Amino acid sequence: MSSYFIDGGSPLYGDVVVSGSKNAALGIIAGAMLLDGPCQIENVPDISDVLKIIDICRDLGARLELENGVLHVDPTSINTTTAVSQRVRDIRASYYLLGALLGRSQHEAKVALPGGCNFGTRPIDQHVKGFEALGAEATISYGNIEVRASRLVGDHIYFDKTSVGATINLMIAAAKAEGTTTIVNAAREPHIVDVANFLNTMGARIRGAGTDVIRITGVPVLPGRASYPIIPDQIEAGTYMIAVAAARGDVTVRNLIPKHMEPLSIKLEEMGVGIEVGEDSIRVRRNGTRPLRATAFKTMPYPGFPTDLQPQSTVLLCHAHGTSTMHETVWDNRFQYVDDLKMMGAQIEVRDHIAMIKGPTQLTAARIEARDLRAGAALVIAGLAALGRTEVFSVELIERGYEHFVDKLQQLGASIVRSESC
Ligand code: EPZ
Repeated sequence: MSSYFIDGGSPLYGDVVVSGSKNAALGIIAGAMLLDGPCQIENVPDISDVLKIIDICRDLGARLELENGVLHVDPTSINTTTAVSQRVRDIRASYYLLGALLGRSQHEAKVALPGGCNFGTRPIDQHVKGFEALGAEATISYGNIEVRASRLVGDHIYFDKTSVGATINLMIAAAKAEGTTTIVNAAREPHIVDVANFLNTMGARIRGAGTDVIRITGVPVLPGRASYPIIPDQIEAGTYMIAVAAARGDVTVRNLIPKHMEPLSIKLEEMGVGIEVGEDSIRVRRNGTRPLRATAFKTMPYPGFPTDLQPQSTVLLCHAHGTSTMHETVWDNRFQYVDDLKMMGAQIEVRDHIAMIKGPTQLTAARIEARDLRAGAALVIAGLAALGRTEVFSVELIERGYEHFVDKLQQLGASIVRSESC
């Protein structure tokens, strides 16, 4: 396991450039396995989850080469509908291969049940509901899920719960199904729109992505033979915006889509953080004098406040004057990192999915563990604002989703180094 050592107290200054979206890249790369020809995917982030799904797709027989952020994909040599290796179990997004392999074969797919961050139960019943609507039968046994269909026929799918994964999975599976599929109560995250735009660029006919009703008209062939650039990562961008607000300073976060950042920008302005929105950048300023205002946050599916910025924002709220609340409505158990923040002096109590945060608190250094991707990034932000030297260990979890995290923070003046844990 490796660690970051962070000497807190240095404000952040300068520019940081946001990488391609992890959650768009994972859906797009899996979706590329559906194609009947090669394609090129640009702005691919060099992060371990992406490298892992590339290896998983290679295991299927596809050819993929990643060079300087450009991924050349040739799925025409795929020779199986089964993906049950350990690396498949390591990441959540593996389940997109169910949609891709079922859509490719029109008859079957067998994929290991997914892993991913542990925030309590992470069911896949809505994915199964969607596959069954298309005429497939799903069975779960020996840690794998298998879907089989004599024919894949488009139909009406009503999701009982808004699910990013199920929306992406069924868009992929339905792209080549016979007839039209309508997904109602679809998730609307930016990365869902990106996956739909990618598939349409490759020959699919998907309309309404970004709204709660998506219509997919199945096509017999997806020729591919095109390039597609992945959108900037909304959550990476938000993580840096929050880091400046917590550690103080003046940073311009570049290569982002301001519309995607609105749920966060509005809350930061409410707290008294300086926000200046450019065409594809946001300047974030917080100096030492102006106190941060306590406020209430509630995570919701997009366009609500993103759950993936919840841990980072809770760290920020420790520095606000007064009592703030963070209400987590998406995941059952996404406050595990609060125990680590309490070791740094944070005054937080969690009850019924709501964290009450008292501030301002001057956090102090501690040795703490990254329990998942976003919680790990939150603890780094805490270390940037804390007095003393903080060690965050198990940082491999953070590096699943943040490209060149240490380099980018060092370029902003942060005192952070990575080293192998003793
Ligand atoms: C995606 O996970 C993201 N992961 C998560 O980001 C993110 O937290 C989540 O969407 C919500 O935005 C990827 O894109 C790889 P969901 P996903 O299906 O698709 C329930 C990160 O940090 N649900 O939208 O697994 C589920 O339990 C990661 O990048 C069902 O009940 O999330 C949860 O309460 C962490 N049945 C809610 O829906 C299902 O079949 C949202 O889950 C599916 C989901």
